[in-house]
Amino acid sequence: MNSIAAAKIKPRDAPKATPGCPALLLDWYDRHRRVLPWRPLAGERADPYRVWLSEIMLQQTGVKTVGPYFLKFVTRWPDVTALGQASLDDVLRMWAGLGYYSRARNLHACAVAVLRDHGGVFPDTEEGLRALPGIGPYTAAAISAIAFDIRTMPVDGNIERVVSRLFAVEEPLPQAKPLIRQLAATLLGPSRAGDSAQALMDLGSSICTAKKPTCVLCPLNDDCLALTRGDQETFPRKAPKKSGTLRRGAAFVVTRSDELLVRTRAEKGLLGGMTEVPGSDWLAGQDDKAALAQAPALKGIAKWHRKAGVVTHVFTHFPLELVIYTAKVAARTRAPEGMRWVPIATLAGEALPNVMRKAIAHGLDL
Ligand code: ADE
Repeated sequence: MNSIAAAKIKPRDAPKATPGCPALLLDWYDRHRRVLPWRPLAGERADPYRVWLSEIMLQQTGVKTVGPYFLKFVTRWPDVTALGQASLDDVLRMWAGLGYYSRARNLHACAVAVLRDHGGVFPDTEEGLRALPGIGPYTAAAISAIAFDIRTMPVDGNIERVVSRLFAVEEPLPQAKPLIRQLAATLLGPSRAGDSAQALMDLGSSICTAKKPTCVLCPLNDDCLALTRGDQETFPRKAPKKSGTLRRGAAFVVTRSDELLVRTRAEKGLLGGMTEVPGSDWLAGQDDKAALAQAPALKGIAKWHRKAGVVTHVFTHFPLELVIYTAKVAARTRAPEGMRWVPIATLAGEALPNVMRKAIAHGLDL
């Protein structure tokens, strides 16, 4: 039995240690580490300036694109003092083509700050690094680990993927980030934090890829919980995107004294089996007239008043805008077919979805 497959990690479970993994990871890194322009050779000390410069360039940009830019920069400005003395215009010109130009402005501002406030020496703590322009939590952790061997694990998208698979993290992103950070930290050994971090980065980009990971080559395959289940490609879990085309419709809030007219939605489909006030179809091209034409059959009984404003709601696949019509009908008015009267006082006990709670609240001025 592998060391972590014993228990499925659920949201908020305490991270389980993976005793063998840090050593397996470093052993793999020693044999397979990528040769990259900013990486010192095995056993050599990393230069904080080169680590910082590469990490800024690698934000939102791939290793292949960054390589030539990195070499151009270090040839022209071999250390942070040289870069801090350069003009912003020169830096922007050299950066041209890498995109996300705020990175170049921050890069220059950071070099100036290191020169002015730190005598041209990068601070050697995560906190000190985070105080510099353009250095967020990920970059501070990456520089700390790689340049100063501080025992911290930077977590980017690649590392999130590796960790979420290794521990089969069911909680979706972005909520899972704190849990993934805790779990990632269990992959640090007693030393060589920078190599552990870069090992995970390399593993994420070469083996534990988003699609078709080559699990047979992975040094952690004996410990990978997702692999034992065979659903590794489904990690990391992601909250469904709230997007889609706006749909529109009408909802009819009809009261008979202190009762409200409701019906039950069809068993299948969106909000299946839940209670709703009668309404029109929800369509992308719905116009108000067509929606009003679908009012419940209370002709000659109900006089419709259109409430000012609309009720909005965002479903997983589309946003919805509802126009609300209200009507008061006389005592003993029969509910149209398929509908029923419920006391407003007992609405809390009905299976009312949020969108309907909003519609009713708007219609009844609650
Ligand atoms: N992506 C971000 N930082 C990296 C690094 N130091 N090595 C490889 N890929 C990276």
